[in-house]
Amino acid sequence: MATVALQNINKCFNETQVLDNINLDIKDKEFIVFVGPSGCGKTTLLRIIAGLEEASEGAIIIDNQDVSNSHPIDRGISMVFQSYALYPHLSVFENIAFPLRVAKLPEPELRQRVQEAASVLQLENRLDHKPGELSGGQRQRVAIGRSIVRNPKVFLFDEPLSNLDAALRGDMRVELAKLHHRLNATMIYVTHDQVEAMTMADRIVVLNDGKVEQYGSPMELYHHPKTLFVANFIGQPNMNFLTCQPLHHIEDSLTIDVSGYGHLTLPVHTTGANLGSSIELGIRPEDIQLTDHGEGFTMHIDVIEQLGGSTIAHGQVNDKDFCAVLPGDANIKPGGEIKLAINASKCHIFDADGKAMRRLQSGH
Ligand SMILES: Nc1ncnc2c1ncn2[C@@H]1O[C@H](COP(=O)(O)OP(=O)(O)O)[C@@H](O)[C@H]1O
Ligand SMILES: [Mg+2]
Repeated sequence: MATVALQNINKCFNETQVLDNINLDIKDKEFIVFVGPSGCGKTTLLRIIAGLEEASEGAIIIDNQDVSNSHPIDRGISMVFQSYALYPHLSVFENIAFPLRVAKLPEPELRQRVQEAASVLQLENRLDHKPGELSGGQRQRVAIGRSIVRNPKVFLFDEPLSNLDAALRGDMRVELAKLHHRLNATMIYVTHDQVEAMTMADRIVVLNDGKVEQYGSPMELYHHPKTLFVANFIGQPNMNFLTCQPLHHIEDSLTIDVSGYGHLTLPVHTTGANLGSSIELGIRPEDIQLTDHGEGFTMHIDVIEQLGGSTIAHGQVNDKDFCAVLPGDANIKPGGEIKLAINASKCHIFDADGKAMRRLQSGH
């Protein structure tokens, strides 16, 4: 299969810059997810890789060849869109075979390739049906089948699961991950859904306003978000933030005042950080402990979600929305108050510019 490198990609539509100096190296057989809010430039970047859109500046290298000026068909790439655009009057077989008919492949080889794709996608007994007789998930698999038969070097997916209901999306996530293993292909997958990104990616590219905020494995992004934006975006439920005052610091520790909690000393590198007058303390809902010693900070509870194994409490700390993931059997009630303790070694701290201050060491 193939490596993909993006070098200094810029894109302007008229006067508006929508991609700002994107540099990425994608390894052979990697599953890469571009994730970010609507309008951040994901589709544009994917279309530039596919050759459907021209970059204003920069180069696209596939398998060590500069394809920046190549026609889409010559790039060895196949793209699956959110709307699967199947031909309703053609059978599943003919829908999958379509690109091979266009390429005038001899009939025996065409039949073999369609059969192979149908087998990988478990569509063998649907080949004579029309798309209208299939479920949403099956239709999506036909669209993927149409891209598999071309034996592309790289698969591109643009929000392919957005039109499916939640349960089916979960199933299809697993299907696509299996397909990636079976085909051993390089795949680039675009989504605005951080859960899809976390569950499927080898590495995630977080895009924000046309820029790469961070590029790394799901667990790197979870444990070491480099910016407030990534911290806010990755992880479910979302990270909590408390605005705190920096009190004093040395090179490798920072003491802050957490309102309603007291002083907290954090093992972080302070060199180069913009401490300003206030900083954000980030605490993941799952990194909080319920305490019964009357210490810690107070959380008012509005709503609880009992999931069995865990209970998610939603409410406020210092009048700010706050969420805590607690044991399933925690004795808590809506309208009540609880005391929570935080573990300094698991806290995230963001300077006045929204940049994470690097922790001295952690278990990860
Ligand atoms: N053909 C186009 N002409 C002008 N602006 C465009 C065009 N395509 C996309 N844009 C703009 O570029 C930005 C990024 O769009 P897009 O790549 O579709 O974002 P995403 O897929 O992340 O939602 C948006 O502000 C969008 O309005
Ligand atoms: Mg898009």
